[in-house]
Amino acid sequence: MNRVKNKVALITGGASGIGLSAATLLAKEGAKVVIADFNIEGAKEAAQSLVKEGYEASVIFLDAGDAKSIEAAVEFTVEQYGSLTVLFNNVGLTNLRKDLDVVNIDLDEWDRLVNVNLKSVLLGSRFAIPHMQKAGGGSIINNASMAAFASDQTRTAYGATKAGVANMTKNIATQYGKDKIRCNAVAPGLILTPAAKSNMPQEMLDIYSKFNALPYHGEADDIGYAVVFLASDESKFMTGQTLQIEGGHYLANPTIADTNNWVASLQNKA
Ligand SMILES: NC(=O)c1ccc[n+]([C@@H]2O[C@H](COP(=O)([O-])OP(=O)(O)OC[C@H]3O[C@@H](n4cnc5c(N)ncnc54)[C@H](O)[C@@H]3O)[C@@H](O)[C@H]2O)c1
Repeated sequence: MNRVKNKVALITGGASGIGLSAATLLAKEGAKVVIADFNIEGAKEAAQSLVKEGYEASVIFLDAGDAKSIEAAVEFTVEQYGSLTVLFNNVGLTNLRKDLDVVNIDLDEWDRLVNVNLKSVLLGSRFAIPHMQKAGGGSIINNASMAAFASDQTRTAYGATKAGVANMTKNIATQYGKDKIRCNAVAPGLILTPAAKSNMPQEMLDIYSKFNALPYHGEADDIGYAVVFLASDESKFMTGQTLQIEGGHYLANPTIADTNNWVASLQNKA
């Protein structure tokens, strides 16, 4: 119930999906949460339902592509609750029609994703760290993706920016560990958030199922619980790490099926 009691958490993109799960679970485990999102109506709805249940939650408009807006969200959190000790840099996105292979990617889209997916993590951390230093420590959690580690025929900017997030996580951990500021990341595989559900036809889900070690898909809470762990003192000796939470999707060597067939064909010949 009180795994993050007395912590003050700012969650970017907290109105939906993984951010909403993290905000909800952090509040239920005792944190005061600020839900920052450009979907302000969704953010208000989320905060109101938490407050109705007796938890502490506030909202602020956020445009994660704008430095001033990120700074305002950090300052609002400190004004509202007196400190900031947990930051979940969660906002991230891609546009499948523009974020293409290296030759064809729309360069404006590249710039937009570098700004929203990667620079927002730098800026959120940059504005939050002095407050965490003042508070005697804190936990920054970044949302990367398995796309940081796996190649793709498309989504070049998404993969590169998420790899950047995983690397920045290590830099923040190294640079501010002495101030008791930890920084870790989560790297989700496919998670059936409302956005993912509406974008994924059943055929695609079936393909994903075929390659998961576990016989089910990921849900937002599978990442939200990891965020609670990383925000809490349960993980106090853990920093600079990226937790891969992906149902075992990327475990197997992709050549296994073909190799097994080849081995079977040799056995048949023998
Ligand atoms: N869902 C997945 O399968 C998956 C897999 C790997 C990584 N991720 C990462 O998880 C994070 C959240 O994804 P999700 O699936 O929960 O998405 P989502 O679309 O369900 O939620 C994203 C939230 O962020 C808000 N948002 C988007 N752009 C914003 C901006 N510029 N400023 C402020 N708010 C903004 C949206 O309004 C929304 O509330 C992203 O960083 C994404 O890359 C998701």
